[in-house]
Parts: sequence; structure tokens; C-alpha cells
Amino acid sequence: MDLNGKYVVVTGASSGIGKALVKQLLKEGAFVLGISRSIENTMDITHARLWVKNMDLSLKESIDQLFDYARNCFGTIDLFVANAGYARYGGHETIDFKEMDTLLNLNTKGIMHTAKKMREVYGDKPYNFLVTLSAIAELPMPGYALYGASKAALDNYFSAVALEEKKTRHIYQRVYPVATRTDFFNRADAKYTPWPVQNADHVAKKIVKGIRKDKRKIYPSALYKWGKRLAPWFFKIYLRKQRKKFEAHKQSK
Ligand SMILES: NC(=O)c1ccc[n+]([C@@H]2O[C@H](COP(=O)([O-])OP(=O)(O)OC[C@H]3O[C@@H](n4cnc5c(N)ncnc54)[C@H](OP(=O)(O)O)[C@@H]3O)[C@@H](O)[C@H]2O)c1
Repeated sequence: MDLNGKYVVVTGASSGIGKALVKQLLKEGAFVLGISRSIENTMDITHARLWVKNMDLSLKESIDQLFDYARNCFGTIDLFVANAGYARYGGHETIDFKEMDTLLNLNTKGIMHTAKKMREVYGDKPYNFLVTLSAIAELPMPGYALYGASKAALDNYFSAVALEEKKTRHIYQRVYPVATRTDFFNRADAKYTPWPVQNADHVAKKIVKGIRKDKRKIYPSALYKWGKRLAPWFFKIYLRKQRKKFEAHKQSK
């Protein structure tokens, strides 16, 4: 997709990967609507082609309202970037039912509902729908069972949706970042950041490159992408280390 003059919604745009992506999309000449719960109060980027709106996307009603709001701003959406999401670090036994609901509503169900709304509102019009997953969707990590499941469920969901829509002009794109330097780990209450770590600008540039080429799967880390295929044994050692860190974290509590 050539982004120049295109209408793009980015969720989770107030911080981290979403915010870095907003900057890149504006450079490409896109019109951008950025969404998060607090973006109207915190966003320090201003631009004639940028709109911002506070919305809690763990709520179905907000997602429905977002489509009305986007229609008023833009008239149409060419690319939807479903990026908002969060994790809560800790053993699976520490996560209660309410927390499961909140996390899955934002990370998983809300995004499924958003993709469905795109289909309902825009029918056969061509568009791209991009979702920020995580390397964890493919590589389960101790301490992130619920978060990993929320991303792995989407991974499976959108590979099925892409098959259902093979004959349409809708393109589903999935992004698999490794650990990225953002507020994410703070918000997750994680005491350490898993290696390797990238910065959000790098991830955003790789995402934009993938959008330009209509790539179905985008891997911002070449090390992860090729390591997974060429040296699967390495990940066994890696996970052993992550498990030790997780156990140390549990003992320190
Ligand atoms: N950082 C990493 O290591 C990493 C790695 C792989 C994948 N990811 C994924 O990348 C995406 C972006 O994460 P990030 O690293 O950029 O984290 P971040 O800096 O914490 O940003 C998260 C964004 O989501 C928004 N958000 C949170 N809850 C929301 C809600 N209920 N409704 C609307 N917006 C909400 C936040 O803004 P408000 O607080 O204002 O709502 C913020 O803009 C997430 O899906 C994350 O799972 C991150």
C-alpha cells in the first residue's frame, strides 16, 4: 500500500510503538487518527493530518463509536492498525478472572470485533488491517501465559480470516515484535526486559516497510525471524534462561 494520502487509524497511539508509527505514517503523507484512553491529554505531536481521540478500546461500544468518529474525520479508512495492548507479568496462578476479562477484551476480543466492524462498514472496498502481535505469539514465555495466549489466539484467528478473505481485496497483516523499549514492561510490572531489545522507531520503520509491500507477516527483528528457522535449538537454551529469571522473580516476592 502506498501510504501517501491514505486514511489510517492507529490504536495505542499515545505511546511506544503506536506513537513511533504515527510519526512514520505522517512522514509517508498519510492522514492519521490516533486513539488511546489518554491521548488527547498526553500527545505531544501536532500535525495538520493528525487527529486524536480518547477511547477505551476494551469496550465494544467504544469500538463501535470509533467507526462513527473515523467517518466524521476521514470519510473512510484505508488502513486500520490494531496496536493497543498490554501484558501483566506473573505466574498464571496470580491472574484472577476479572483481569483475564480486561486483558482479553482489549488484546483479543476487541481486535476481533474491530476487524468484523471494518468488514461491516466498508464491505468489499479494499483496505489493510494490521495487528501488532508479538514474538510471544510463537514463542511462549514464562510469566506471560495470559498475554501470550491473547496474541497467539489472534495469530490463529487472523490466519483463518485471511484464508476466508483470500478472494477479497482485504489484506491482513500481522507483526511479531521482540521486546521493544517502551512503557510496556513498566505497565506489565515486569522486573526485567527479555533479550533482544529494539527501539520503537526501528519497529515502526519495519512496520511501514511491511505495509508498503503488503507483507502478510512482519518481523521487525531479523535475528528472531531467522533464528527461529535456522537455529531452533537456541530457543530451548533461551527459554531455560527465561524460566530461571521467572523463578528468581517469584522467589523475590
Ligand atoms: N514493548 C514490547 O516489548 C512489545 C513487544 C511485542 C509486542 N508488543 C505489542 O505492541 C503493542 C504496543 O505496545 P507498546 O510496547 O507500544 O506499549 P505501550 O508503550 O505501553 O503502549 C500501549 C498503548 O496502548 C494504549 N492502551 C492501553 N490500554 C488501552 C485501552 N483500554 N484502550 C485504548 N488504548 C489503550 C496506551 O495508551 P493509554 O494508556 O492512553 O490508553 C498506549 O498508547 C501492544 O499490543 C503490545 O502487546 C510490545
